[in-house]
Amino acid sequence: MHVAHLSLADFRCYARVEVPLEPGVTAFTGPNGQGKTNLVEAVGYLATLGSHRVAGDAPLVRQGAQRAVVRGLVVRDERQTLIELELNPGRANRARINRSDNVRPRDVLGLLRTVLFAPEDLALVKGDPGERRRFLDELLTLRAPRLAGVRQDYERVLKQRNALLKSAAMARRSSRGMDLSTLDVWDDHLARAGAELLAQRLDLVAALQPLVAGAYEELAPSGGGTVLEYRSSMGEGVPLSGGREALYAALLAALGAARRQELERGLTLVGPHRDELGLRLGDLPAKGYASHGECWSYALALRLASYDLLRMDEFGGPEGPSNKGGGGLGGAPGRRLGEGGPVLILDDVFAELDARRRERLAERVATGEQVLVTAAVPEDVPEALKGARYSVLDGEVTRV
Ligand SMILES: Nc1ncnc2c1ncn2[C@@H]1O[C@H](COP(=O)(O)OP(=O)(O)O)[C@@H](O)[C@H]1O
Ligand SMILES: [Mg+2]
Repeated sequence: MHVAHLSLADFRCYARVEVPLEPGVTAFTGPNGQGKTNLVEAVGYLATLGSHRVAGDAPLVRQGAQRAVVRGLVVRDERQTLIELELNPGRANRARINRSDNVRPRDVLGLLRTVLFAPEDLALVKGDPGERRRFLDELLTLRAPRLAGVRQDYERVLKQRNALLKSAAMARRSSRGMDLSTLDVWDDHLARAGAELLAQRLDLVAALQPLVAGAYEELAPSGGGTVLEYRSSMGEGVPLSGGREALYAALLAALGAARRQELERGLTLVGPHRDELGLRLGDLPAKGYASHGECWSYALALRLASYDLLRMDEFGGPEGPSNKGGGGLGGAPGRRLGEGGPVLILDDVFAELDARRRERLAERVATGEQVLVTAAVPEDVPEALKGARYSVLDGEVTRV
């Protein structure tokens, strides 16, 4: 798939901008602070309904404006879909699909798939566990939009269960009694939704494992191997195999075991919201041990693996793009090389890479249907990623 046209109104530094786009590689270059990342951030927003830089929508609306509009014309297998999103900070956002406004913003998920790598992704390796959980959950939702509903259910149950535990903890401190019979019901809801989310995450980690290792190996051949380790808040002794029902039973048991502590702290201590995706490099955890360059390659490998996985979803089976470089799309029925797959966005990556790694990365992604890159220095964009060039200067986007 690719974005054929991007149109922004009052988004970030842009009062209005129209950017026609083509399949293949497009590079946005220009000095820092001119609006390059803002453009690709908007493309990512169309796919994920969120920014890779900020949690809320308010910073995305141009200073002084009330709302922002992001429009993208998405082409997939020659079918066009116009996605329009209106960002209203503090109020509900609105969406239109092919000019119909009888849709929720959530319905937009799945129409455009993007994988975005940006310097902020260092936090995937160096940041809190929440960063890595979000990485997994966002990828899950990209692959299967219905999982957005599962995530929302889980969050809702968690919030209500936490509220109940909090009042129980307060009642306890003031030596009041409290009826806790509803807690069992919330345990059951939490274990149900939690087991579903956990099962999905475990499958995802298993699928990512070889792809991350392959991508890292290409970027940093001399480094130790990468290992992804899903660590459950249920504790090390609890097996994470056996499927959904087994996980449900395990979560229920773990909630039972943690109840006293939870009542003391007024907080849900067990469940996917407390799990961790451990990233190891060789025998050591990457976080706290790996060098800056290694962390950077690791973060990039996580994104490239996501990209591989989404391409494999589309092309299917072992005939899909290999993780051995080149990213060839052979074997896809009825498709030519360079068709299909998500839009890959590489924001400011080349400056951090030496010439050899740049070339390797370029070779690997050059066959994508659409690759959007940004760079402050045009010379940093490798030869293999020759394509359309735009200069971005003071909020003006000009074809060069
Ligand atoms: N909501 C906003 N309103 C107006 N300007 C903004 C807004 N958010 C960011 N900017 C401006 O956008 C510029 C940064 O754009 P960005 O795309 O990150 O630059 P770069 O070209 O370095 O990638 C900054 O000058 C910043 O002040
Ligand atoms: Mg930038």
